[in-house]
Amino acid sequence: MPRETVIARNAGRNGGCLSQLQSELFDRGGPVHEPDPEAEAFTLATTAQARRAQGVTFTPPWLVERMLQRAAALGEFDTVVDAGAGSGRFSLAAAARFPRAQVLAVEANEVLAAGLRAKLHRLGLAQRVEVLTGDYRALSLPLRGRTLFVGNPPYVRHHDIAEDWKRWYGQGMAALGIAASQLAGLHAHFMLRSRQLMRPGDVLCIVTAAEWLDNGYGSALRHLWTADGAHGLRRLWLAAADEPVFPDALVSAVVVECGGVPDDRVGLGRIVARGFAPTRELARAELRAAPRWSALCQPGMGAPASGIELGELFRVTRGQVTGMNEAWILPADAPAALHALGVPAVTRAREIIDGTVLEADARARLRQVIDLPVDLEGLAHEQRAAADEWVAHARRLGADRSYVARQRKAWYAVGMREPPAAFVSYMGRRPPVFRPNPQRVSYLNIAHGLYPRLPLGTAALRRILDHLNRQTGIYSGRVYGGGLAKFEPGDVARLRLPDTAWSGVA
Ligand SMILES: C[S@@+](CC[C@H](N)C(=O)[O-])C[C@H]1O[C@@H](n2cnc3c(N)ncnc32)[C@H](O)[C@@H]1O
Repeated sequence: MPRETVIARNAGRNGGCLSQLQSELFDRGGPVHEPDPEAEAFTLATTAQARRAQGVTFTPPWLVERMLQRAAALGEFDTVVDAGAGSGRFSLAAAARFPRAQVLAVEANEVLAAGLRAKLHRLGLAQRVEVLTGDYRALSLPLRGRTLFVGNPPYVRHHDIAEDWKRWYGQGMAALGIAASQLAGLHAHFMLRSRQLMRPGDVLCIVTAAEWLDNGYGSALRHLWTADGAHGLRRLWLAAADEPVFPDALVSAVVVECGGVPDDRVGLGRIVARGFAPTRELARAELRAAPRWSALCQPGMGAPASGIELGELFRVTRGQVTGMNEAWILPADAPAALHALGVPAVTRAREIIDGTVLEADARARLRQVIDLPVDLEGLAHEQRAAADEWVAHARRLGADRSYVARQRKAWYAVGMREPPAAFVSYMGRRPPVFRPNPQRVSYLNIAHGLYPRLPLGTAALRRILDHLNRQTGIYSGRVYGGGLAKFEPGDVARLRLPDTAWSGVA
């Protein structure tokens, strides 16, 4: 384990006063209405960027309350661990809700830890809630009796995590028999640390970024929480896309509840209207086998797989990246000789969404992307002159220096894709849109192209695309905070087509 962190404990010894706290918090309808000057002061004194780098996001009090209600339904606790305690929202609410428990508030940021200590003294709770300053992954905690792990672990992406901590994570997961990716963020490290500290009967209830439900590094966490019944996942609620829990965060939130009494069933649901709405129950083994979980939290989705995957019928390919669209996309008034070196291409997602690609005059309406060969020697005299002029102009813009351009055989030769049979838009606050490509145009990386693996007639293609437009919801992709959905080519390839949509095609 990396460097052991010094534990600084709060020195307050003036005794926890539950009745005072209860009257301060609950008399006004629960901690939801409690002001939080420490969080407000910290937010004013720091930039959003600095807070993001340290993973500081304050949990809305209504969610703190809902989560503690859930935990309380699972019995009493002797110890409550609030890892990444911030201004102490979970710690204070837990002290009020579990009068017998000792609360351990772990916080790495010394300013927040000091603010929390001062607040505890003010409330007469310094003995009930102990503040431990340090790194949750390194601290050894004085755990006593049945423990609840509650809170909102910091979300810090792997780019900002030190190599030795990545190694710690890999080794810790390996000790549990799980292969882990180096791309996991700090919230994943916190989950591992909590799992290491949990004993049978302990409960974990946390809110965290939801991307691990579906992505590559999340596979280790999905295994971690479905490996055994004693520490296993009990319930999971994903924030509805149109109701983000953390409005300023770039990711969706999920509340995870694990441990307690062993149970083979897992309840999945959504966070809707500030409450938890169940969607379905699955056997743990069934959930463990599912490659992606967020779709399973949606009503009406996650039905048993039937039919075939789209990827069996089509190759799904990203559009081409120029490295500098400003240089490669020709202005309408470019000389005709230069237009002769371009190909009409979809360069904006809206040309797919609004149906421009379907129009008879699409080739004239779409913009042209210059598509020079590697060897300019073979060009006819007039084209060669136009190409040389464009190359000089693009150089002046710095187009030859972009990372992408430098990876090419000749920096100017983009290599536009062959026209695909159909396009799919892949990013937006809406489901993807599928369109055929009757005018046979090319495309940049604002869309994916679908290339049939088998001969496919126009009517059959339309039938498949119509079905996809009707049936594909945003949860078949990756949904980020505020309902922004992204579909990687693999997500599109995994969309399922029922037999009625494709039979007779081959
Ligand atoms: C998402 S915030 C949650 C704050 C608070 N629990 C709440 O829900 O309002 C995560 C907290 O973890 C703290 N933190 C970041 N890295 C940490 C680490 N390695 N060990 C302990 N705390 C850490 C941050 O300073 C931040 O206060």
